[in-house]
Amino acid sequence: RILDTAPKPLAGKRIVVTSGPTHEPIDPVRYIANRSSGKQGHAIAAALARLGADVRLVSGPVAIPDPAGVSVTHVETARQMKAAVEGLLPADAAIFAAAVADWRAATEADEKMKKEGGKGPSSLPLTENPDILAGIGRHESLRPGLVIGFAAETERLVENGRAKLRRKGADYIVANDVSPDSGIGGTGVMGGDRNRITLLSPDGAEEWPEMSKDQVAERLAGLVAERLGRPFP
Ligand code: CTP
Ligand code: CA
Repeated sequence: RILDTAPKPLAGKRIVVTSGPTHEPIDPVRYIANRSSGKQGHAIAAALARLGADVRLVSGPVAIPDPAGVSVTHVETARQMKAAVEGLLPADAAIFAAAVADWRAATEADEKMKKEGGKGPSSLPLTENPDILAGIGRHESLRPGLVIGFAAETERLVENGRAKLRRKGADYIVANDVSPDSGIGGTGVMGGDRNRITLLSPDGAEEWPEMSKDQVAERLAGLVAERLGRPFP
């Protein structure tokens, strides 16, 4: 047994983290999803737990294990994720790393949709999902003292990220280029093990060099500890 004597600057702090994609059902066998692996969000949850935080992770469907030392709520849809997050508040900080599906099918079919004799594909009416981060970042009483969001962009990273900072009421936005050809980790940020982020705050933009998602998580956890933590004797 290894004795963990590392400093715990986040002891006693409750931090809610979202991670992974959401799945939005179309019918009993089909869903809308995205390429999020949950690696970055899960790594953040693990890094915060190592600093002593009481981490409550709300995870969409992912193929990776629950992080050590973290209490995990598993959800499928954006609406379930929102309800789970709200049920975990109040918290000292919240980090929204999930790639929440922006739209869901306007109606979910009770039976499997059929091809029906060569009529060709039917169209799929969509409706917008609630914005979990914006709902909490702009909430008068529920808002944690520290709110960190992500911005997944394929163009105009800083400009689009800044707009999200304002619109969602976040203290920081972790902006990343999710283009498949971004040159990061071979296959891009989504699904890969590497990340290159730009940290946006009202004070400016800080470009971090490319590093592993675990290293990004360590540094973000360090930032959270600076903002919330008690100095360790
Ligand atoms: N987010 C959320 N709920 C949603 C959509 C996004 O909580 N329904 C959060 C994400 O977890 C992330 C941030 O908002 O922290 C930005 O997500 P992103 O997809 O980059 O931005 P959107 O506002 O959805 O805009 P768009 O996808 O059109 O760029
Ligand atoms: Ca989105």
